[in-house]
Amino acid sequence: MAKSEEYKLGPNTYPRGWFVIAESNELGETPLAVSYFGRDFALYRGKDSGNPVLLDAYCGHMGTHLTASTSAVIASDNSHIEGDNIRCPYHGWRYGPDGKVNDIPYHDGPCPRSSTIQSYPVREIMGCIMMWFDEDGLEPQFEPPMLEEWNDPSWVHWDLDHLGEIDMHPIEVIDNMADAQHLGPTHGAPCEYFENEFKDHIIIQRQGGVLASYGCMLMSTTWYTGPGILLSKQEFGGQEIYEIIANTPVSDGKIKVWHGALHKSASAVATEEDRAIAKEVQVGALAAFAADFSVWANKRAATRIIQLKTDGPFNKVRDWYRQFHLEMKDVERHQGANNGKAHVLNMDKPSEEALALGAHFFE
Ligand code: FES
Ligand SMILES: [Fe+2]
Repeated sequence: MAKSEEYKLGPNTYPRGWFVIAESNELGETPLAVSYFGRDFALYRGKDSGNPVLLDAYCGHMGTHLTASTSAVIASDNSHIEGDNIRCPYHGWRYGPDGKVNDIPYHDGPCPRSSTIQSYPVREIMGCIMMWFDEDGLEPQFEPPMLEEWNDPSWVHWDLDHLGEIDMHPIEVIDNMADAQHLGPTHGAPCEYFENEFKDHIIIQRQGGVLASYGCMLMSTTWYTGPGILLSKQEFGGQEIYEIIANTPVSDGKIKVWHGALHKSASAVATEEDRAIAKEVQVGALAAFAADFSVWANKRAATRIIQLKTDGPFNKVRDWYRQFHLEMKDVERHQGANNGKAHVLNMDKPSEEALALGAHFFE
């Protein structure tokens, strides 16, 4: 595995942005211990607000992991979650969701400020728990993505596929956004049209081509909101889905990956039958994504790419990605240098085959 330094990303080791850290249904009453960005975190659901809270894992007092030890009496029955606060299982110091100690059971007077630990911005959106990570500790610089269709009862929600951890730098996942020439060999749907567009922290790919196995056109508009969360609107054979693919750095050169598909049912309110169909559609979408995933799991790192003119704009996509490793003062200028379109291919010239299949280009 190669690290950020070898891809000449920097000065920060980890990208800045919103990242999936768990699926909503994983976080019930029992807190979780999670590790990302080479750090350990305590994740729990506040009893008052129902909101997830994410703190640095280790208690300021003597370094106990707040959520990993489950045999302490107050942890074994979850009584250490009080409202939106959590008590350390060792001596019971109580942390608020802001990371400050607000009660010590055997001490009167102010709690030591030096015991404060870091609290991270967290959002629960579309069945995902997302955190904002910034090595420099800045507040969120943009909003995480949200699909309106999630609140439309005709669409069937995803349950995420947990693909697990993979020894690959996240920049090689993002390469896929530029990768016009893998769509045939890897997915059996060579693109007829293709373009990338760069808009500050967002990158878009629009492409389409004949999906041989279905005998229909597949058209997709895919975008990353920051470095960690991909959404993709896809239409093929009368089906409409949104796919989510999330990658989160676990350590430098290792990521964790999730996948899901939101499916538009034929009913105003999705029925049990619609749910069964949506499950099958997600299995199909996962199979397509698994083709990428198995390439990634078995490839060596490509810290440099030999980019042909007829490849997609890999190097531009990598340069776009670099913004998430820069100091904030340099980000706007870097975005400005990348904004615009690249690798515009046949966006206004559908082939006869595509026209026969009813391609509507570029929405
Ligand atoms: S180590 Fe956490 S309260 Fe003592
Ligand atoms: Fe792919």
